[in-house]
Amino acid sequence: MTLQMITAAASGTWKLDDLEVNRIGFGAMRLTQDGAALRADAVPSDRGRAISVLRRAVELGVNHIDTAAFYFSPLRSANELINQALAPYPDDLVITTKVGPGRGPSGEWLPHATPEQLRGQVEENLRQLGRDHLDVVNLRVLGTDSIAERFGALAQLREAGLIRHLGISNVTPEHLAEAQAIAPVVCVQNQYGIGVRPEYDEFLRACGEQGVAFVPFYAIAGTGREAGAGGTASDEVLAVARAHGASAVQVRLAWTLHRGPHVLAIPGTGNPDHLVANVAAGALRLSEDELAVLDHLHRGEARA
Ligand SMILES: NC(=O)c1ccc[n+]([C@@H]2O[C@H](COP(=O)([O-])OP(=O)(O)OC[C@H]3O[C@@H](n4cnc5c(N)ncnc54)[C@H](OP(=O)(O)O)[C@@H]3O)[C@@H](O)[C@H]2O)c1
Repeated sequence: MTLQMITAAASGTWKLDDLEVNRIGFGAMRLTQDGAALRADAVPSDRGRAISVLRRAVELGVNHIDTAAFYFSPLRSANELINQALAPYPDDLVITTKVGPGRGPSGEWLPHATPEQLRGQVEENLRQLGRDHLDVVNLRVLGTDSIAERFGALAQLREAGLIRHLGISNVTPEHLAEAQAIAPVVCVQNQYGIGVRPEYDEFLRACGEQGVAFVPFYAIAGTGREAGAGGTASDEVLAVARAHGASAVQVRLAWTLHRGPHVLAIPGTGNPDHLVANVAAGALRLSEDELAVLDHLHRGEARA
């Protein structure tokens, strides 16, 4: 089977409460610029290419797209591109957005939003996406302070029907417990990947036990973060990739999906070929031996 024939359905499905999604989704952060994301001086992407990547993603069965109003470059907005490419939206498409510390009109980061400002951010996402409700909204958090007031504000917007489901991002297990005492939480979105934040292993497992999706970001970019993928893959990842006729990036994605049925991938790309490869990674099945090697690498342990 050629890569182009593998759809996101090959990765299996997970339910964010009543919303079923294929486990391979798409992150929209890379669509708005070439090179590093979230920079005030970012080089805007080609608009037609970004739109065609989004349409191709949906053709390939992607029905979970992660976005934010603060994903923009001087000339492109991820939400506006999603609206232009995909509205009227397919019934099964789940668009997850996030609110919290936003970016000013010139791209500079702003401090944590107040509860009133969070409502404004939800309305901004509604306007840009052209919807009357948001499927899933993540509260993005910086630091370890209480999130009760801010999450409570989003819970009220959920009660009012502007938001279907709530998630949290960049958080600790304590944040999850705090949020769950206020309203149901369908997902946790944290940085995670092979060799990236192994200290979240236990949190990832605990999310699964509670039926909460764990959605890693930077699973490919790793420590490259906003700058993106780069550098050379480790020998262990390359050996597994060779054995499957796959790429190191595909192995990184497949490994995250093997961490549990509740793990949802949201790889980001502005490149149509990379999109096809990332969707196909959902069909990779790694053996117990391969997983053991990659798990050791993840935890930075020497093999016995
Ligand atoms: N909650 C948060 O705080 C937070 C923070 C960051 C990101 N996110 C979300 O998470 C999503 C994923 O993060 P991300 O987009 O930064 O990182 P990622 O998916 O880990 O990696 C993206 C980087 O890898 C490259 N890439 C993607 N597919 C590739 C392939 N098949 N082969 C080679 N290179 C490939 C991309 O470049 P090309 O464009 O050239 O393919 C880009 O440099 C974001 O899009 C965003 O929706 C959330």
